Amino acid sequence: MAVGIFDSGLGGLTVLDAVTKRLPDVPFVYFGDNAHAPYGVRDADDVYNLTTAATERLWDAGCDLVILACNTASAAALRRMQESWVPEDKRVLGVFVPLIEALTERQWGDNSPPREVAVKHVALFATPATVASRAFQRELAFRAIGVDVEAQSCGGVVDAIEEGDEILAEALVRSHVDALQRKMPKPDAAVLGCTHYPIMEETFQDALGPDVKVYSQAELVAESLADYLERHPAMIGPGTDSLFLTTGDPSRVSAKATRFLRRKIEFQPA
Ligand code: DGL
Repeated sequence: MAVGIFDSGLGGLTVLDAVTKRLPDVPFVYFGDNAHAPYGVRDADDVYNLTTAATERLWDAGCDLVILACNTASAAALRRMQESWVPEDKRVLGVFVPLIEALTERQWGDNSPPREVAVKHVALFATPATVASRAFQRELAFRAIGVDVEAQSCGGVVDAIEEGDEILAEALVRSHVDALQRKMPKPDAAVLGCTHYPIMEETFQDALGPDVKVYSQAELVAESLADYLERHPAMIGPGTDSLFLTTGDPSRVSAKATRFLRRKIEFQPA
């Protein structure tokens, strides 16, 4: 009875935290590919190969359903995986759609034509690979019209968070918000399109000002997973134990994860 949560590193812990709170009886197996983070500067083939290898490991750990709690993998690899790689009895889901549904005021499964929505000017903060993929704009265009999106590729932020250098991460976030505001002075909403960024959410909100609504994914993904499991209870796989797996150094990764989540986390080698 386990669900897999995958990220290139520590960012997916923001999603893990929310899904654990929302679904306390479901065991989760977390896979952080810390040895290969960041993904945001890799090309699409590289991200695909790393993401499929991690997903296979999660299947081996008894997870028939794997959530890519990584926007970069969701943007660069998910569609290719779903089209030609995921077997019939397994599922891999990404983190984009719940966010875009919230932004466009849609319920799950509402496939009606795109329409006007309340937000008009959206700032997207994401990794270079996610921004280059334009996956966010593509998904948005299926659901909304008349929304102006300005994307800011936030080089360096994931590295700084992975290194635990919060001062650098904060300085980088402020300079990326500054750069975005030069292109779009008054966004009405901002999307944190990388699961690492909620760790810096206060800095994003502070730099953007109180009038900008900041959307981050963790709670939205947790709600959407709860809904999915209600509709597909058989997708909770045969695994029974919660586990934390990493391709990085387990003691280093455990120490950082414990700091982020403010509870003891012990990673094992993947
Ligand atoms: N947490 C990943 C995401 O949501 C970070 C990607 C990276 O490793 O650069 O995009």
